[in-house]
Amino acid sequence: MTTFEHKPTLTGDLVILRPISSADADDMWADLHDAEAMRLTGTHSSFDRDQIDQWCASRAGQVDRLDLAVVDRASDGWAGEVVINEWDADNRSCSLRIALGPGARGRGLGTEAIRLVVDYVFDQIDDPPVNRVSLEVYDFNRRAIAVYEALGFRREGVLREVLAWDGRFHDAIVMSMLRSDRPA
Ligand SMILES: CC(C)(COP(=O)(O)OP(=O)(O)OC[C@H]1O[C@@H](n2cnc3c(N)ncnc32)[C@H](O)[C@@H]1OP(=O)(O)O)[C@@H](O)C(=O)NCCC(=O)NCCS
Repeated sequence: MTTFEHKPTLTGDLVILRPISSADADDMWADLHDAEAMRLTGTHSSFDRDQIDQWCASRAGQVDRLDLAVVDRASDGWAGEVVINEWDADNRSCSLRIALGPGARGRGLGTEAIRLVVDYVFDQIDDPPVNRVSLEVYDFNRRAIAVYEALGFRREGVLREVLAWDGRFHDAIVMSMLRSDRPA
């Protein structure tokens, strides 16, 4: 039986996904100073270094989520993170988020990382099996929307003006993939 308590290592052609550990704190800290990623993910909050150290060190012990480092196989270095969270066992649904660093974007890594983690969640978690993976993406994030749609996520609706950024409000698009949406 496999649950979210188990932390896998998933290998693709371009990336390896592996559990985040305390050794990743420097890279995560650097990514939190990437203004473009903060805009694309709508991250207003600021963190201090101790919080990031504690966050990275505590990821392996989480029983209801997966926090995986995206490792660029070309350099063997950190490219970012992909996270499955908000696990709702009663309804067998969870959420997905991803953030790659500036040098990692636009090279196919994100598409492969999401495919790897989604395949894992639907195909390997079995106690209980996952039925739904959802996400929210801001309407200005055209690249992310293109990636999610190419992978088979479907648009569900719009959260109107949920993000205040740079003096105006922005909508978020809710997307999901159901087990029944997946190719047989
Ligand atoms: C979103 C993200 C995960 C995508 O991963 P990525 O590795 O950069 O994307 P990929 O290179 O795999 O694919 C990008 C695709 O989007 C397309 N694309 C890029 N910019 C686009 C745009 N403005 N409009 C439409 N499509 C666009 C590319 O052509 C490519 O499609 P293709 O493979 O058919 O050519 C990554 O860019 C990221 O982490 N960004 C910062 C944080 C973020 O936006 N997170 C998501 C929050 S919901």
